[in-house]
Amino acid sequence: MNDLIKAINELKKEKNAIILGHYYQKGEIQDIADYVGDSLALAQWAAKTEADIIVMCGVHFMGETAKVLCPDKKVLVPDMNAGCSLADSCPADKFAQFVKEHPGYTVISYVNTTAAVKAVTDVVVTSTNAKQIVESFPQDEKIIFGPDRNLGNYINSVTNRNMLLWDGACHVHEQFSVEKIVELKAEHSDAIVLAHPECKSTVLKLADVVGSTAALLKYAVDHPEKKYIVATESGILHEMQKKCPQTTFIPAPPNDSTCGCNECSFMRLNTLEKLYECLKNESPEITVDPEVAKKAVKPIQRMLDISA
Ligand code: 13P
Repeated sequence: MNDLIKAINELKKEKNAIILGHYYQKGEIQDIADYVGDSLALAQWAAKTEADIIVMCGVHFMGETAKVLCPDKKVLVPDMNAGCSLADSCPADKFAQFVKEHPGYTVISYVNTTAAVKAVTDVVVTSTNAKQIVESFPQDEKIIFGPDRNLGNYINSVTNRNMLLWDGACHVHEQFSVEKIVELKAEHSDAIVLAHPECKSTVLKLADVVGSTAALLKYAVDHPEKKYIVATESGILHEMQKKCPQTTFIPAPPNDSTCGCNECSFMRLNTLEKLYECLKNESPEITVDPEVAKKAVKPIQRMLDISA
């Protein structure tokens, strides 16, 4: 493994490449990445890097977002099959039709979408800035919010709005078990429940803190003396435990404990071996239709400007 890490670092230097990793990646990928962050941070780093090659250790839409922001750079992903159930729940043609059927609506899309969906969007959001961006519109603005119904419902509740929601969801966040979290809370009465807003409202009701991966991590780092039950993809526990080595973090269990579904199987497709091969061969490479990219860059840039 040490040889592989050395070889990746050498290739990275030789090719002036940067490795960006999401918090849901395997620990060894997070450890070798130049930057580890949430979806917003990954887009921000991609937008400002001077590297010639961006290796996006995350899922396909994250690579697409980087490519749309940096059309002249080579954007690689270690495994092209690293997709996203949430992005898949919102096919671009169906979403475009939905938008067409609702003239006069502002379209806000979660970053977990294809570039083609972003191309029919007014402004992109991540879980870090969704509330702030929705609140930047007048209270009576007519808004379509897609594709995550759980995040949409949550933002509706905290902003007192009634945005029209697309009916999509993340297969990992949908799976957390209310009953098992209640049992864990009874067992660890001093534990704080941290939950990502992609979880169902019944899980969010049990949460003490609702936020993006970066926000949940920050809360734990600011309060390392507490104990935590963590309702998001369990890859985040790697960084939590690294930053707070004395703290107890308990991953929230899914409904079916045999399926390992608090791990995103797409995120876990990326491995050190594939990362090495992808840097060596400069493949697989993300491509985005230039016409789609020209439209998709506007709502992404708008998000970055609002979040700056
Ligand atoms: P954040 O990185 O914005 O927390 O969202 C994670 C994600 O992609 C959930 O599917």
